[in-house]
Amino acid sequence: MTDKDYVAFIEKIKRKSGIDLSLYKETQMKRRLKSLYEKKGFQSFHEFFLAMEKDKCLYNLFLDRMTINVSEFFRNYQRWNILEKKLLPRLLNGKKHIKVWSAACSTGEEPYTIAMILAQNSLLEASYILATDIDEQAIKTAQIGIYSERALKEVPLEYKTNYFQQEGSFYHVKEDIKRSVTFRKHNLLSDRFETDFDLIVCRNVLIYFTESAKKELYEKFSKSLRRNGILFVGSTEQIFTPEKYGLKTIETFFYTRL
Ligand SMILES: C[S@@+](CC[C@H](N)C(=O)[O-])C[C@H]1O[C@@H](n2cnc3c(N)ncnc32)[C@H](O)[C@@H]1O
Repeated sequence: MTDKDYVAFIEKIKRKSGIDLSLYKETQMKRRLKSLYEKKGFQSFHEFFLAMEKDKCLYNLFLDRMTINVSEFFRNYQRWNILEKKLLPRLLNGKKHIKVWSAACSTGEEPYTIAMILAQNSLLEASYILATDIDEQAIKTAQIGIYSERALKEVPLEYKTNYFQQEGSFYHVKEDIKRSVTFRKHNLLSDRFETDFDLIVCRNVLIYFTESAKKELYEKFSKSLRRNGILFVGSTEQIFTPEKYGLKTIETFFYTRL
């Protein structure tokens, strides 16, 4: 495998899918994709792409390998607790509804966590929750809303009883929670951003992007927030110079729009 091989692959994938792999950290992405094509018996990215052109299943496998869908409800529980108890009252400031975006929502655990917190605080009915991901398959799974015990390990008991229906070893998200989330396919690196959000939750995806792609995203997230709106990032995704983007740290992993 040569770099030229990967660079040409990036170009072809961009033309085929609109996904720009050059904005993802190269070493990681190359390693993930190479291990997939080798497992499938190909010698190079070139061969892999030719085969993908003829075989939709292989293309889907590629998409599945490049998007990493691991998620869970209330991931890093302490952070969600801070959001609910400390930051939500500040965000509301007397209002009874908020506009939220779960960006890179994967299979739905994150936007449903948000919906449950809003429901618990009698805010769900009037609020708007947008949940987006580049991966259509993940969105379909999210819309089904059935999860195994593993995805619920951080869910407080009260939430488990109020918002899930257990059937055998699976947990079904209740209908009113499911209905409250609008799912949509969206590529953070190329699609337009909605505006006026009170809260943007974008966790555990920025780590896969190059530094320059990340900077552009911080800029765009900041513009998508209303004044005093909050950006909530993942546990290894702190922004080192938030003021450059018109943001200010209010808690670890939380930034407010100035
Ligand atoms: C590890 S999951 C994070 C899920 C959730 N936010 C969480 O923290 O549990 C990363 C998600 O990012 C999505 N993703 C990767 N590249 C993306 C892009 N360019 N635009 C939108 N979503 C993307 C993947 O499809 C995957 O579902």
